[in-house]
Amino acid sequence: MDKFSLAGKTTVVTGGLSGLGQAIALSMAEAGANVVLADMREPEDNAALAAIEKLGSKALFVKTDVTKEQQVTDFVDKTVREFGSIDILVTAAGVGNKTPAEDLTEAEWNKVMDTNLKGLFLCCQKAGIKMIAQKSGSIVNISSMSGFMVNKDRTISAYCASKSAVSMLTKNLAVEWAKHNIRVNAIAPGYFVTPFNAVWMDNPQATELALNLTPMKRFGQPHEIGPAAVFLASPAASFITGHTLVIDGGYTCW
Ligand SMILES: NC(=O)c1ccc[n+]([C@@H]2O[C@H](COP(=O)([O-])OP(=O)(O)OC[C@H]3O[C@@H](n4cnc5c(N)ncnc54)[C@H](O)[C@@H]3O)[C@@H](O)[C@H]2O)c1
Repeated sequence: MDKFSLAGKTTVVTGGLSGLGQAIALSMAEAGANVVLADMREPEDNAALAAIEKLGSKALFVKTDVTKEQQVTDFVDKTVREFGSIDILVTAAGVGNKTPAEDLTEAEWNKVMDTNLKGLFLCCQKAGIKMIAQKSGSIVNISSMSGFMVNKDRTISAYCASKSAVSMLTKNLAVEWAKHNIRVNAIAPGYFVTPFNAVWMDNPQATELALNLTPMKRFGQPHEIGPAAVFLASPAASFITGHTLVIDGGYTCW
């Protein structure tokens, strides 16, 4: 099982203070990696960093808005300054939208696209430059099952478009950077219990519909995504690149 080890590696997780990003950060630490959390929010306490350190890894928080190019450059530079390399990037920072397409404002559209697509690209680009120089690296982008299909009874056009683009961008970067020994993959989660979904998971009707549409009849828990991210990032996935791994309890099978 040595191929699943990330011992001695440095991982950066954007959106690492909440939900899936936080769970992935913990799994990365469990696999032995040092972890840098990049998020636009300040941590409320030191629990996230302490949880990583408790696993024997080093942890660092860098306040970063991924939509701002200079801030992305700064967090990547800081990571390399502190840890000597950036071996793994996980791009979990993301936002949703819920306004019907005919009412969607330009500002809402821009927020979703700037965060989920442009911001993700900037992170890949700035980390990729370091990985090209090091001649190795692994990127795991967080896409969504919504990049493959339209969620029933949801009006999330900008979100779906942004996530579809993430999976295609993942393929492009995988092809462009294969010669630099950099693998680029993505994970497409289905419905997971995180603050991201709190707005509708409180509604019994919406919850019942989503559960009925999920063959496994339950939502994913954040801890069920981390091991998949570790796998894709690790040498165990050494011949996998350009792939988007759907983790959705079967939602997209119908
Ligand atoms: N939870 C789900 O069911 C689900 C399903 C499919 C895809 N996803 C995707 O997974 C990712 C993580 O989702 P989550 O459920 O953990 O959400 P979340 O809302 O719990 O966490 C998102 C984190 O991203 C941060 N963030 C938002 N905008 C940012 C920015 N501009 N710069 C830096 N950080 C920023 C937030 O501060 C937050 O900590 C998102 O990309 C989301 O689209 C989630």
